[in-house]
Amino acid sequence: MIAPTATILDLAAGAGRHALFFAERGHRVTAVDRDLGRLPDHPGIERLQADLENGSPWPLGTRRFGAAVVTNYLHRPLMASLLSAVEPGGVLLYETFMEGNERFGKPSRPAFLLKDGELLELVRGAYSVTAYEARQMSEPRPAMVQRIAARRLR
Ligand SMILES: C[S@@+](CC[C@H](N)C(=O)[O-])C[C@H]1O[C@@H](n2cnc3c(N)ncnc32)[C@H](O)[C@@H]1O
Repeated sequence: MIAPTATILDLAAGAGRHALFFAERGHRVTAVDRDLGRLPDHPGIERLQADLENGSPWPLGTRRFGAAVVTNYLHRPLMASLLSAVEPGGVLLYETFMEGNERFGKPSRPAFLLKDGELLELVRGAYSVTAYEARQMSEPRPAMVQRIAARRLR
């Protein structure tokens, strides 16, 4: 569902498991995180160090990507910029913890947990939903997770 030539944004990329996945398949990836220390060096990965929560402007300006991937990270003030950073026809892949996860441990603060249906609400009207799940996972450890794959309409 992601075009072979698509550029990829990996937001809060961490150790770069998704950045590397896409770079190894020939995509140009931009990996953003405040800490790039665990991000592997790869010629296909552009490294962008940025604190996404300190009130600075969105670090990617008006750049658009063929796909954006965000996992295990939530900072709601970024959502509008994230949705705009995917080009029309491009794909958003988002997976993170949701309410109910507090009974398994962290994250447990409401600010870090999606509300029921929140990813669906987020993309409504602007994206076509390809897949959506909200459920308890058992691997790699018990957790309540919400995930969406959606294509930008316009
Ligand atoms: C749980 S890790 C997830 C990493 C990766 N997405 C994954 O799933 O493997 C969360 C990431 O968010 C990054 N992060 C947390 N707060 C941040 C901030 N204020 N600005 C930028 N990155 C931040 C952390 O450095 C960390 O790499």
